[in-house]
Amino acid sequence: MTSAAPFLLACRRAPVPYTPVWLMRQAGRYMAEYRALRERFSFLELCKTPDAAAEVTLQPIERLGVDAAILFADILLVLEPLGLGLTFEKGDGPVIARPLRAAEQIERLPRVDVADALSYVFETIRVVKRQLAGRVPLIGFAGAPFTLASYAIEGGGSRNYVHTKRLLYGHPQAFHALMARLVDVTVDYLNGQIAAGVEAVQVFDSWVGNLAPDDYRASVLPHMQELFRRLDPSVPAINFSTGTAGFIELVAAAGGDVVGLDWRIALEDGWRRIGHDRAVQGNLDPGILLAPRTVIRERVRDLLARAEGRPGHIFNIGHGIVPETPPDNVRALVDAVHEMSARGAAR
Ligand code: CP3
Repeated sequence: MTSAAPFLLACRRAPVPYTPVWLMRQAGRYMAEYRALRERFSFLELCKTPDAAAEVTLQPIERLGVDAAILFADILLVLEPLGLGLTFEKGDGPVIARPLRAAEQIERLPRVDVADALSYVFETIRVVKRQLAGRVPLIGFAGAPFTLASYAIEGGGSRNYVHTKRLLYGHPQAFHALMARLVDVTVDYLNGQIAAGVEAVQVFDSWVGNLAPDDYRASVLPHMQELFRRLDPSVPAINFSTGTAGFIELVAAAGGDVVGLDWRIALEDGWRRIGHDRAVQGNLDPGILLAPRTVIRERVRDLLARAEGRPGHIFNIGHGIVPETPPDNVRALVDAVHEMSARGAAR
């Protein structure tokens, strides 16, 4: 029964026998099994082939011993039915063929029937759920409106967000219209994932830490609040961001049962500022997974000590596993979290 799964209990701040752990990008290029599948499928083909996407979702479960599975998909898939064109180029990451640069383009964005356009994702969820057979809960996810907007406007990843800021500061109405459209699509998408069977959802605002606090408050917060308000409340929602230590209180005010912390803030500081009445997820530097095992174990012990055995801590890294990470180190991390938290060694 997944309803008593430690991961879901921790999302609701209920007591758990050990600290649950899952990792961002726990499926992916650091695993030989994934690279083998990628020889046969392009990244987008993999996302759109439910049996293969389900296989990738499940690859880390036994191998790593994590307490939750995260659906294999991508936050950018929703940009395709919006007509922006999406490809993943080797070495360059995602490329959006028709980026949004003008207000007229935003006005002309098509209505999206998510149930139809992203039906392959919902099918993957159903396949994964059957194969998981209740072993661990499945986490669904989507991009947050700012992070999606930044890809849609820039045409790919970005360092300075030049086009995004030009639109945000020069044409705030167009920017808000785009954010509102992305909220609508994302609400349908996440509620569709919940209907298909995911037991928690995570909203990724990976790049919002590029904004000043007052700009987050004025241009992002209301849209995030709207998004979380409209999500099906029957499953917990995780509000993930990076680089937001300077305004984590505002991120918490956006919503979510669980607030993600990256490693640029001490866990105890972040949790105090968010409030101990909310669950938190985090916050090891993913780079620690490149370190010797003794260092990994020391850092796990340290992080558990900072959480003080308080209910509502989900152990995670602050951002994704990097492809250079040895899989055995990831297993060692998961085992260390389970072992040390079950013993209460860190308390
Ligand atoms: O295990 C998991 O975490 C589930 C799958 C997952 C992927 N992307 C698979 C993926 C998830 C949750 C994501 C989310 C995602 N995608 C985010 C938010 C999380 C974060 O890390 O900030 C973002 C910003 C994206 C957009 C994206 N997709 C980028 C920038 C890239 C290129 C990455 C790179 O380093 O080249 C992708 C591609 C991608 N998404 C890969 C995977 C496993 C690598 C694709 C490959 O096989 O070449």
